[in-house]
Amino acid sequence: MHNFPILETERLILDEITAADIPHIVLYLQDKVFSDYTSNIPYPYREQDAELWLQLSSEAFKNRSGFTFAIRNKNRKFLGAIGLHDQGSDKAELGYWLGIPNWNNGYVTEAAKAIIRYGFRELNFNKIFATYFPHNPASGKVMEKIGMQKEAVLKQHLKKDGRYYDIPMYSIFKEDLKYS
Ligand SMILES: CC(C)(COP(=O)(O)OP(=O)(O)OC[C@H]1O[C@@H](n2cnc3c(N)ncnc32)[C@H](O)[C@@H]1OP(=O)(O)O)[C@@H](O)C(=O)NCCC(=O)NCCS
Repeated sequence: MHNFPILETERLILDEITAADIPHIVLYLQDKVFSDYTSNIPYPYREQDAELWLQLSSEAFKNRSGFTFAIRNKNRKFLGAIGLHDQGSDKAELGYWLGIPNWNNGYVTEAAKAIIRYGFRELNFNKIFATYFPHNPASGKVMEKIGMQKEAVLKQHLKKDGRYYDIPMYSIFKEDLKYS
């Protein structure tokens, strides 16, 4: 695979993130909520954070260990990002974020269904899992809406701001894929 894939859904286009997206990424990620709700988005978020993220995403795609897509509307406006990250044993971790003005429109649910389908059918993953902080119930809701099931609660699994959090883990298996 040399060219970055393009996935299309009813309302969205998922494609490669480019340098032209950096100003939008930096603007969206100014809110501290992104750092509070994730384990890998820094706060404050600076232009060089976005540049590094793009570089790492591009390297991961080249060695097929990561597939991070821009989430865009049909006018190609950048809304957020979603990715699958190879964790070995034909298993990938799903991660996503969306700029706040775009929340609660079902966009990440729509994008996640497409990327999961792609992950099982084209990338041959067997299992896709995701985790979320308990203070971020919208993310848990997305996991349920895309057909994932709660597999475990990982006790004191992540430390943030000096506190340990129990982390729910959701998963879906290739054999369970219900949407085509
Ligand atoms: C989590 C996130 C990606 C969701 O994206 P989204 O496109 O708004 O998600 P959707 O609209 O597809 O679904 C969100 C669901 O959560 C629900 N929801 C929103 N806020 C909620 C809350 N406080 N408690 C419970 N459910 C909530 C919505 O009602 C919706 O469910 P519904 O369709 O049944 O009404 C987005 O909020 C985000 O980017 N958050 C910051 C980054 C982040 O948390 N990333 C994930 C880390 S695990």
